[in-house]
Amino acid sequence: MDTPILSWSEGAAGPANGPATGLEAIEQGAARVTVDDKAMINCRADVNQLLPLKYHWAWEKYLAGCNNHWMPTEVSMQSDIALWKSRDGLTADERHTVKRNLGFFATSESLVANNIVLAVYRHLTNPECRQYLLRQAFEEAVHTHTFQYIVESLGLDEGELFNMYREVPSITGKAAWALKYTQNLSDPGFVTGTPEKDQAFLRDLVAFYVVFEGMWFYTGFAQILSLGRRGKMVGIAEQYQYILRDESIHLNFGIDVINQIRLENPHLWTPAFVAEIRQMLHDACMLEVAYGRDTMPRGFLGLNAGLCEQYMHFITNRRCAQLGLQPLFAETENPFPWMSEVMDLKKEKNFFETRVIEYQNGGALNWD
Ligand SMILES: [Fe+2]
Ligand SMILES: [Fe+2]
Repeated sequence: MDTPILSWSEGAAGPANGPATGLEAIEQGAARVTVDDKAMINCRADVNQLLPLKYHWAWEKYLAGCNNHWMPTEVSMQSDIALWKSRDGLTADERHTVKRNLGFFATSESLVANNIVLAVYRHLTNPECRQYLLRQAFEEAVHTHTFQYIVESLGLDEGELFNMYREVPSITGKAAWALKYTQNLSDPGFVTGTPEKDQAFLRDLVAFYVVFEGMWFYTGFAQILSLGRRGKMVGIAEQYQYILRDESIHLNFGIDVINQIRLENPHLWTPAFVAEIRQMLHDACMLEVAYGRDTMPRGFLGLNAGLCEQYMHFITNRRCAQLGLQPLFAETENPFPWMSEVMDLKKEKNFFETRVIEYQNGGALNWD
C-alpha cells in the first residue's frame, strides 16, 4: 500500500516522498489508480481521483449530509423572541443556561471547522473522505450562521457570547484542551508517515470528532432540547435538532475514519496509545461535568447537572464501545432517552410542531 505510484518532482506541492496532497505536478502516463492503491493516510497515489470508490461509508455519509440540507433562516424565531423579551417567560436559571449554551456553541463550530480545513484535510489522503470533509466544512459554516441568526434575532450581546470561550473558565477549559491537539498539526512542516506523527493525527481526530462533536455537544443539545420539549425557545430547539442530526453524522464519520486507519495501521494501536485515548475520553468527560455544573448551578425542570453527569458517563461509554475500547464508567441508564427520538425526524417529522417541513429524504438516521 505504501508503494509510490507517482514520482515526486522538485517544486511539487507535497514534500518529497511525503503523502499525496493532490497538488503535485501531473505525471503524464502514470499508472491508473486502483482501489488497492487507496489508503486513509500516507497514500502516495493520486488523491484527485474520486472513482473508483474504496470507502463506500464515506460516500454514503456525503450523500446523507446533502439530503439533510437546511438553513437556520428557514426557522421562525418569533416565538423565541417573544419569550426572551417577556419578563416571566424564562426563569433566571433558564436564561443563564441558554446564554452559556449559546456561548459555548458560537465559537466551537468555528474551532471544529478550522480543524477540518487547516489540520485534518491535508493529512486524510483519500478523495471520498475529502469529499465528505468539504460537505462537513459547509455544514459547520451553516451551524456558525445559526448562532449569528440567533444573536441577531434575540438582540443578544454578541461580544459577550463570542468571547465566552475566552472569558468563562468552564468553556475556556474545553476549547484549550482540544486546541492543543490541532496546534500540534498546525506546523506547516508536519507530515504523517512515522508512528509518532500518525498517532498525533489520530489524537486530533479523537479530540475533535469523538470528544468535541461526539461528547461535548451532547450536553448542550440536551439542555436546549429539554427546554424545547416544554415549549420554550422552540425555534432554537428546532435548529439544534437539525444541528444534532448533522453532528451525529460528523461523529460517525470520525469513528469510521479512526477505525479504518486502525485497520490499515494496526501497529499504531499500542497498549500505551490505547491507554492514552482512554485517558483523553476520561479527562474530556470531567471537563464536561464541570461545564454542566457551571451552566446549571441549580438546574430546572427535567434537567440538572447531576443528570447531565450521568448522561455524559453514558455517552462516554458509548464512544468507548464505538472505538473498541473498554467502558470507562459503571454501566448506567441513559437519563434522556428522548434524545434519540429527537434525532429521528422520519418518525417525528416535526418534533416541536413549529412547522411542517421534512428536510430528510434519505435514510440513515439511526446514528447516535
Ligand atoms: Fe457543527
Ligand atoms: Fe460538526
